[in-house]
Amino acid sequence: MQADVKSSRVSLLELSGIHKSFSSSGLLAKAGSVVAARDVSFQIDRGEAVALVGESGSGKSTVARLLLRLEAPDSGAIRLDGEDVLAREPRRASLGYRRRVQMVFQDPFGSLNPAHTVGYHLIRPLLRHGRADSAEVRRRALALLQTVGLEPAAEFVDRRPYELSGGQRQRVAIARALAVDPDVLVADEPTSMLDVSIRMGILKLLVQLKRERKLAILLITHDLASARYLAERILVLFRGRIVEEGRSAAVVGAPAHPYTRALVAAIADAREVQPSETRPAPAGGEATQGCPFAARCPDVLDACATTDPAPRLVDGRRVRCHLYPQGPGELGS
Ligand SMILES: Nc1ncnc2c1ncn2[C@@H]1O[C@H](COP(=O)(O)OP(=O)(O)OP(=O)(O)O)[C@@H](O)[C@H]1O
Ligand SMILES: [Mg+2]
Repeated sequence: MQADVKSSRVSLLELSGIHKSFSSSGLLAKAGSVVAARDVSFQIDRGEAVALVGESGSGKSTVARLLLRLEAPDSGAIRLDGEDVLAREPRRASLGYRRRVQMVFQDPFGSLNPAHTVGYHLIRPLLRHGRADSAEVRRRALALLQTVGLEPAAEFVDRRPYELSGGQRQRVAIARALAVDPDVLVADEPTSMLDVSIRMGILKLLVQLKRERKLAILLITHDLASARYLAERILVLFRGRIVEEGRSAAVVGAPAHPYTRALVAAIADAREVQPSETRPAPAGGEATQGCPFAARCPDVLDACATTDPAPRLVDGRRVRCHLYPQGPGELGS
């Protein structure tokens, strides 16, 4: 609803007001519910990459699973080409939706079946989704391997996953996602398990797919440098909330939210941003009032303890922080 007010243009994919909580049981006496996504709203257009960054436990993979419809949100809407996909099919994603929104996982070895050849992994979705008949599937599989830079394709098609390097396996996983000609690719930490020297090759491939196939990409990453390289916009997630959202160069170059500043400072300290390792997120239930970042914020104000800040516009970015005045740019929550 909010996005409709902002613009009448229909985005390819739009999440609006998505909320998801999990009941947590366990050793903690205060165990209750964990809010993994709170009022998460964003859009992605064709040919655009958006990066979702944040520390471990901030809710990144939850957003991915909601988008893939492996989980159902407690509330909120997911629209594809303006159509409310949850309202239409509340229980399970249809084959059509699954085709249009594809996923690439962090671990290319775990996501490929060691018993099957590379070709099998590509042929199966082609046949299942009716993208090719049995006479042409092999040719299509070879073309997909070429697209992802595995050439000569004939040398790769009959290999098994263990006969490939990690980077090559991830290229096969990307080719498998492309087999059904999706509109949206959700990539959850696609390079974090790869050797640093081959990460750039995968990112370059994603840039190429975005440009040439007009693919919309949601990149989930800890690494702000990768986010900036691939994505036009960055969404910074903290405890299930988008605390800052804006053009990548602005978010990384002049972060507005104190949490984003901490992430950017971590790049200066180490080449690889691993905020989860430096500051683990507290487990268990969560505060119901105030800013969730207040306990860790170097710039904390009195208001932060009592009021969860509504988003406001700061230099073209949408920021949830009391440091910035509410005014005409106030967006409501
Ligand atoms: N199925 C589930 N049941 C209970 N809690 C869950 C479930 N899935 C996620 N959570 C909780 O939701 C929060 C967000 O988890 P999520 O996996 O989305 O984080 P993440 O940002 O992807 O973290 P990481 O960077 O470690 O992959 C965490 O507190 C997690 O424990
Ligand atoms: Mg995750």
